[in-house]
Amino acid sequence: MAQLPEFLKTECLVGGRWVSANSGDRLDVLDPATGDVLASVPRMGAADTRDAIDKAQIAHEEWSSRTAADRADVLHRWAAAMRADADDLARLMTLEQGKPFSESLVEIEYAASFFSWFAEEGRRLYGDIIPPHRPDARILVTRNSLGVVGGITPWNFPSAMVTRKAAPALAAGNCMVLKPAEATPLSALAIAALGERVGVPPGVFNVVTGGREEAPSIGKALIDSPVVRKIGFTGSTAVGKQLMRDCASDLTKVSLELGGNAAFIVFDDADIDAALEGVQICKFRNAGQTCIAANRILVQESIHDKFVEALCARAQEIKVGHGLEQDTGQGPLIDARGLEKVERLVSDATEKGARIHIGGRPHGAGGTFFEPTVMTGITPAMDISHEEVFGPVAAITSFKDERSAIGMANDTPYGLAGYFYSRDVGRIFRVADALNTGIVGVNTGLISTEVAPFGGVKESGIGREGSKYGIEDWTELKYICLAGLEAAA
Ligand code: SIN
Repeated sequence: MAQLPEFLKTECLVGGRWVSANSGDRLDVLDPATGDVLASVPRMGAADTRDAIDKAQIAHEEWSSRTAADRADVLHRWAAAMRADADDLARLMTLEQGKPFSESLVEIEYAASFFSWFAEEGRRLYGDIIPPHRPDARILVTRNSLGVVGGITPWNFPSAMVTRKAAPALAAGNCMVLKPAEATPLSALAIAALGERVGVPPGVFNVVTGGREEAPSIGKALIDSPVVRKIGFTGSTAVGKQLMRDCASDLTKVSLELGGNAAFIVFDDADIDAALEGVQICKFRNAGQTCIAANRILVQESIHDKFVEALCARAQEIKVGHGLEQDTGQGPLIDARGLEKVERLVSDATEKGARIHIGGRPHGAGGTFFEPTVMTGITPAMDISHEEVFGPVAAITSFKDERSAIGMANDTPYGLAGYFYSRDVGRIFRVADALNTGIVGVNTGLISTEVAPFGGVKESGIGREGSKYGIEDWTELKYICLAGLEAAA
């Protein structure tokens, strides 16, 4: 088994101490490429989570009373520590998540960028002075921290989804209890360890790990606590809806970054090579396991066959293997359930008439590896048109004209990302306006950056992460009416 980084942490950070679960139970963390056990972490439950909430509440008083500049210094140091240890963090991520090392390195930089960005955004949490409604008053509006907040993060981006929540939350003066995904807790614990190293005060950032069995009690402890004022969640739409229903009982705020069903449209006036490059990264990055992956690829009739042929040639070149091996372009799927889903969607589509050009089967490497796949003839009758594939399957449909492409793209309850390639300026504005999504990529398949607002419409979620907008959701406005300012006698 590959060597693990020096600062690997296998206990949870709660109130500045590395602790086991009250129960003593542990959860194995596996390398999805081999099935090897890498380490084990605590299976924490409701009581452990309540303890973390208490510690966060205690820490909040001091942390929220610091100047924004003080908090920014801590976050900048955290970003620098991640960058300094990027190779180790990336190796750890590849081992527990499976993505190629080169992609893990990109994610570590992406994750660190949220600390750098929100360190500065915290310094710009301006309030307001409003012309008063009476002569003896002044109206002040301030932006304040919420208090204790929860973060629940997924396995597909084990570091970036942690920092995309923790950085704005902490910059605004909140203290966080984080529950990372059961498959990838080690990256979150490593971030916590670096935080400790750079002087994040005890209790400001707490991590509680657990498996599928513990997740409901950890979630319930966060939701039921009157102290926790917001939960930021990235994950499935089904779980996001349930979380929102549960949070309604005491009106805990939520921000939800949920599932997608992105259309990737290639018009016949597009730069085809650029579109191929874009679809390759958008579809095959992280073995297709991203919420913003091209789920439905729509190609205009006149260029369809040429496009499919060229995409097959590219997909055939992708080297499938362990993410730590040289030149690996695609790692395994996260687990057997992920593999079963991809197999089910491919076989449903083929039974209903889709054609497989390349791939379509589990990869010869075994385990949860799946072949890079290109399919055509996808129709709305197929499950793959409606469900997030979360696998390396390019599902292609042809379309006649702009109007029909827009209709097909918007024919989904999801609305996270949409993409299109065109060189016609008029069309670029028309289609960007018409796509019913929170994010539109025009002539690019890679839209992720800390400076832009990430989030969806419809059943893809509520709220935005990243950018100047991403910090507001972690604050509350306070209106102060300062009255009795009588005119001088
Ligand atoms: C996601 O898939 O949810 C995150 C993707 C990204 O930020 O690039």
